[in-house]
Amino acid sequence: MRLYFASNNDHKRIEMARLLGGHTLILPKDIGMAFAPEETGTSYIENAMIKAEALFSLVHAPVLSDDSGLSVKALGGEPGVHTARYGNDTAGHELSARERYMLLLRNMEGIKDRSAVFTTALCLILDENRKYIIQESCEGAIALAPSGTSGFGYDPVFWIKEAGMISAELPEGEKDRYSHRGKAARIMAMLLAKEEGKDD
Ligand code: IMP
Repeated sequence: MRLYFASNNDHKRIEMARLLGGHTLILPKDIGMAFAPEETGTSYIENAMIKAEALFSLVHAPVLSDDSGLSVKALGGEPGVHTARYGNDTAGHELSARERYMLLLRNMEGIKDRSAVFTTALCLILDENRKYIIQESCEGAIALAPSGTSGFGYDPVFWIKEAGMISAELPEGEKDRYSHRGKAARIMAMLLAKEEGKDD
């Protein structure tokens, strides 16, 4: 199925395309469309819906969105829905991924309980009357120092409990077995297969 993917993040597209196998993901920028809806929701689900609805109103064709974030127990669940913008306000400009996770490590200096959870909400809009939401998560902890080169975003500082390793240390693709996005996308793939079957 051809799906418009409500994101500007190439890393997310790579992971999602790998996870969804035979489906084609088209980013707004692929078709020369500027796409930056305000993520005003207070939950991943709300933000995933905001992104999907915004893109659907522009393309009027099947749309998929992903909203994710990292919730750190010792920081009262922060950065949560603000994960993508963490530290921007204080810095006064957009931080790089490395600056962002280094800031997180600084903010966690001396903290013993480093447990954290990564969450992804996926929203699929097939048409006005068929909309689906899936939310999944991946438990882990914030490492003491960055390690590894695969993945993206906070992967160098996120230790995955189930894997017993830092996300960025896992070989490309193996992260999918444990990740929040991997779990959610496998359910999404089943749903898409069922929807495609309906056209037969
Ligand atoms: P958003 O979903 O585009 O609002 O942004 C999510 C934020 O979480 C971005 O800063 C991403 O870099 C980060 N993020 C999302 N998924 C992952 C992941 O699988 N690994 C590491 N960082 C991620």
